[in-house]
Amino acid sequence: MVQAKPPFPSKLLLLSLLVSILAIFDNGVQCFQGKKVLSMHKFQWKQGSNSSTCLSQETRWENGATILEMKHKDSCSGKILDWNKKLQKHLIMDDFQLRSLQSRMKSIISGRNIDDLVDAPIPLTSGVRLQTLNYIVTVELGGQKMTVIVDTGSDLSWVQCQPCKRCYNQQDPVFNPSTSPSYRTVLCSSPTCQSLQSATGNLGVCGSNPPTCNYVVNYGDGSYTRGELGTEHLDLGNSTAVSNFIFGCGRNNQGLFGGASGLVGFGRSSLSLISQTSAMFGGVFSYCLPRAETEASGSLVMGGNSSVYKNTTPISYTRMIPNPQLPFYFLNLTGITVGSVAVQAPSFGKDGMMIDSGTVITRLPPSIYRALKDEFVKQFSGFPSAPAFMILDTCFNLSGYQEVEIPNIKMHFEGNAELNVDVTGVFYFVKTDASQVCLAIASLSYENEVGIIGNYQQKNQRVIYDTKGSMLGFAAEACNFD
Ligand SMILES: *[C@@H]1O[C@H](CO)[C@@H](O)[C@H](O)[C@H]1NC(C)=O
Ligand SMILES: *[C@@H]1O[C@H](CO)[C@@H](O)[C@H](O)[C@H]1NC(C)=O
Ligand SMILES: *[C@@H]1O[C@H](CO)[C@@H](O)[C@H](O)[C@H]1NC(C)=O
Ligand SMILES: *[C@@H]1O[C@H](CO)[C@@H](O)[C@H](O)[C@H]1NC(C)=O
Ligand SMILES: *[C@@H]1O[C@H](CO)[C@@H](O)[C@H](O)[C@H]1NC(C)=O
Repeated sequence: MVQAKPPFPSKLLLLSLLVSILAIFDNGVQCFQGKKVLSMHKFQWKQGSNSSTCLSQETRWENGATILEMKHKDSCSGKILDWNKKLQKHLIMDDFQLRSLQSRMKSIISGRNIDDLVDAPIPLTSGVRLQTLNYIVTVELGGQKMTVIVDTGSDLSWVQCQPCKRCYNQQDPVFNPSTSPSYRTVLCSSPTCQSLQSATGNLGVCGSNPPTCNYVVNYGDGSYTRGELGTEHLDLGNSTAVSNFIFGCGRNNQGLFGGASGLVGFGRSSLSLISQTSAMFGGVFSYCLPRAETEASGSLVMGGNSSVYKNTTPISYTRMIPNPQLPFYFLNLTGITVGSVAVQAPSFGKDGMMIDSGTVITRLPPSIYRALKDEFVKQFSGFPSAPAFMILDTCFNLSGYQEVEIPNIKMHFEGNAELNVDVTGVFYFVKTDASQVCLAIASLSYENEVGIIGNYQQKNQRVIYDTKGSMLGFAAEACNFD
């Protein structure tokens, strides 16, 4: 039996000995024997930068790869006065976002327009998917700097464009195609315009005089972007240029972006950035997502030269499960271990699980979630429980503890690949004083809904998408741009 620990553990001496011989990770975290130590007092909550500028992300070029600095959106949305509110809002939004994603999947599969779906319980709030898409990079489009949101669940990239019929507030000047000599309009007769259907689920519509290719992306929750397709010179930094990059020039956009200029899509269809640059980067990109609560940087690497990664464990690869209907990335989750115990559930290996950079909390089929929860609670026993919050139902009051040992969680994928969840990805702090800290994994409502591996469990990992080889790789990495 695991004993509850007093606030100042008597094992402190032993711990400090272990610290000196074991790898020490970023946030005062060490790992040993199926457990990891989470130091509560080192779980810091940054106030956010005073300047609230989004344009500080850098780029560098190394061994044929382009490396973009990647930050959490919160680090550029000004000072954060109330972290508790912020953390709770993220969860509420994540629940809306999941439902909108599910309705998007349904509409793609059924071939119906999202607007026609009356049975899907979509809340009509705006910008939900966009608000939870948390990670941003800075690129140059037509010579103008743009800070854009990174989304593996989208294909078409877009920015707000002048003149706007309707634009939300963004921090940087809105892109103006008329002042860019390299901007070209895509015509509606072109094959590019035809490819909109698979990228956005909606056909391109011909404009008149000139016959532009007008696009619509509905995110399924009331948020959208509308405008025309164009091509422009895209510079990913330090002379990594993509000429004739196809993107949406958004004239009518609704969504809460925290000031970003638009979105860059890394999905599977031919219009995504990774498809459009496949001659340059071989269809490989990877990211390391930093924690939200600090101002740490992660990186988005375009290109597959693994010498630029800073992974601390070997990369393990799993097959991407082809899904001709949905433009998302699917994996075969074959098991989960908690500590050293393999959780048993009939749904492992049955259907593909989606991996997404824009969903926060991992959602598992109910049978898998129940088995995981039971095992976790068994191993993390003796700690006072706390009320559930929203989708998170396994919560503890850890405010009396300096540090706690938490069971290691590993997700296993077909081909012996594994995602060893970082210690910062196991618990979600609903309250910063740790009086309500919850297992950061939730259950889907039904066994047959599509499971999702969210970005909270992908923190401090190198996650490699090899779209040509149809493989996805995981390795531990303490995210850091420098
Ligand atoms: C914000 O920055 C300004 C100068 O850039 C400085 O004078 C001020 O003290 C800062 N405020 C806080 C709360 O850090
Ligand atoms: C751009 O790349 C060149 C050569 O790869 C390098 O010497 C230079 O320092 C880089 N500049 C920046 C700003 O990263
Ligand atoms: C990958 O990086 C190594 C340096 O570590 C370099 O020798 C090699 O040429 C690079 N490969 C490519 C394809 O650029
Ligand atoms: C997942 O992998 C297991 C084990 O290799 C296999 O039996 C199962 O058929 C796979 N499931 C899918 C959906 O490919
Ligand atoms: C959480 O635990 C602390 C210390 O054990 C206690 O003082 C506090 O009242 C508890 N908070 C709640 C909300 O139960």
